Amino acid sequence: MYKSRISGLGHFLPPNVVSNNDLSKLMDTSDKWIQERTGIQNRRWVDPENIISSSQMGFRAALTAIESSGIDKSDIDHILFATISPDHYFPGNGVLVQDLLGLDTIGATDIRNACSGFIYALSVANAYIQTGQYENILVIGSELQSPVLDKSTNGRDLSVIFGDGAGAAIVSRGNNESEIFSTHLHSEGRNALELSMKGPSAIHWIDKQDPTKVSPEIFAPQMNGTVVFKNAVVRFEQVILEALNKNGMTPEDINCLIPHQANLRISQFIQKKLRLRDDQIFNNIQNYGNTTGASIPIALSEAFQNNKIRRGDIVCLAAFGAGFTWGSALLKF
Ligand SMILES: CC(C)(COP(=O)(O)OP(=O)(O)OC[C@H]1O[C@@H](n2cnc3c(N)ncnc32)[C@H](O)[C@@H]1OP(=O)(O)O)[C@@H](O)C(=O)NCCC(=O)NCCS
Repeated sequence: MYKSRISGLGHFLPPNVVSNNDLSKLMDTSDKWIQERTGIQNRRWVDPENIISSSQMGFRAALTAIESSGIDKSDIDHILFATISPDHYFPGNGVLVQDLLGLDTIGATDIRNACSGFIYALSVANAYIQTGQYENILVIGSELQSPVLDKSTNGRDLSVIFGDGAGAAIVSRGNNESEIFSTHLHSEGRNALELSMKGPSAIHWIDKQDPTKVSPEIFAPQMNGTVVFKNAVVRFEQVILEALNKNGMTPEDINCLIPHQANLRISQFIQKKLRLRDDQIFNNIQNYGNTTGASIPIALSEAFQNNKIRRGDIVCLAAFGAGFTWGSALLKF
């Protein structure tokens, strides 16, 4: 069995910064409320007059990741694209990036596991590399969420949290210096509707005979914030400890935990439970909000860029989100 490693990273954030004070002009909210409950100060929302789609943001992140890995783009054997905000109902974003990059007819897979999407994609990439099927896989997490958020006071519990952006990694056949040790995936579908957007889907569609039949709420995300919070703190801790136990390590061995950027309070809770020092965890939700499937690759790429993680560090990635789904990956970076 081969080993796999992350050989390159990149991210792309749309330039349009939206502050909490900007939001308080759209809805009944305040900088104080948002910062106290979520830690978020700013997020990036694509300029509605100049939309950049999730495939285009993913493409831009991919270009940086390819350059940082030092491979030629023609060496990429497969694309895995994690998103819940694709350009089209079908086909998926992976094929759009295959075309944008001008690659040969390599396979492209889309993954729809929301906030855990990047961990799920990384796990698939790891398995493909381990079996020897592929040598270099482009893994992207990218989300364009701002257009579907309800920016009125009605939707304020959700719209203040989510942001747009993309991150990408090249997962390559490993060497002795760095490797993905293990990945761990879980789901619990009985909580599917606690965090969901029902439509558009085959059963939640616009009735062409009578468009008034459809309630607009179906096309906006819905969240039971309390249930999500309570489950997230338990599952994050469990799945991080699962990865550490599997590899005979303890929280002390982690150089950097990069949790999915759901909410700063969730990250701080996990940090406290695992007794991690401030230098053992990386958060950037303050600047970008929750970018769902893009949050881990953006944070990973930014942490690398800012020397918060270095080659050889033990890095733990962990996510929890809609499904519910959750997962972790432990690696020597
Ligand atoms: C969403 C979340 C921040 C709400 O925080 P909370 O402390 O549970 O707040 P509540 O939902 O109890 O709401 C408290 C009050 O604030 C109000 N409120 C909700 N959103 C608001 C906003 N953006 N601005 C101001 N007030 C708001 C509510 O209407 C409620 O008012 P009421 O007491 O008059 O009814 C919190 O539940 C949370 O962080 N959940 C997890 C979310 C998450 O991580 N999602 C991503 C998962 S990947």
